[in-house]
Amino acid sequence: MAKSIGKNKLNCAVFISGRGSNLKSIYNYSKKKNSKINLNLVISNKSNVEGVRFAKKNKIRTKIIKYKDKIEAEKKILFYLKENNIKFICLAGFMKILSKYFFRHFKYKIINIHPSLLPKYKGINTHERAIQNKDQYSGCTVHFVRQQLDSGKPIIKKKVKIFNSDTPESLAKRILKVENRIYPIAINKILSKN
Ligand code: GAR
Repeated sequence: MAKSIGKNKLNCAVFISGRGSNLKSIYNYSKKKNSKINLNLVISNKSNVEGVRFAKKNKIRTKIIKYKDKIEAEKKILFYLKENNIKFICLAGFMKILSKYFFRHFKYKIINIHPSLLPKYKGINTHERAIQNKDQYSGCTVHFVRQQLDSGKPIIKKKVKIFNSDTPESLAKRILKVENRIYPIAINKILSKN
């Protein structure tokens, strides 16, 4: 008898630019019997990165999209999304901003993970800024993606204590562990409502 696993799951693409630790945690989640997604496609704007090596090793369809021209790059991405019947996108360390054009053409849910307690510290160098400002806590946020940078509705936020001894690197490492834990929880949360 054919296996029914994966039948009622939403087809998902993960967009990355680098290491791919969040990709790994989404992949591990997708393999669980009760998960809400199939991970059908990885999009990366970089070829020689750990996330791409992980995707290939695990036989996830992977497309490298070079960003010489944003709209041309996005047209290619949209083509692959359609070809793979993708109905949900997780941005996981994807360091490109999606344009209005993209949002006009992809009508389904897009979510992102960001290494700060949004709306604090949008953009880059979040850990440096939290330490410089002597914040007691930083953390991470999984949120819906809108066209304005790091500004969609939050799904899950988790605080992480900042110690006096922290460097941006040590804080990033501790926050990343929390990111990897909450990303699948956030996916499950929003897709359980459907
Ligand atoms: C993560 O810390 C993620 O929150 C951050 O990039 C890292 C990717 O790590 N994303 C952003 O800064 C987006 N604004 P990963 O490649 O190991 O998942």
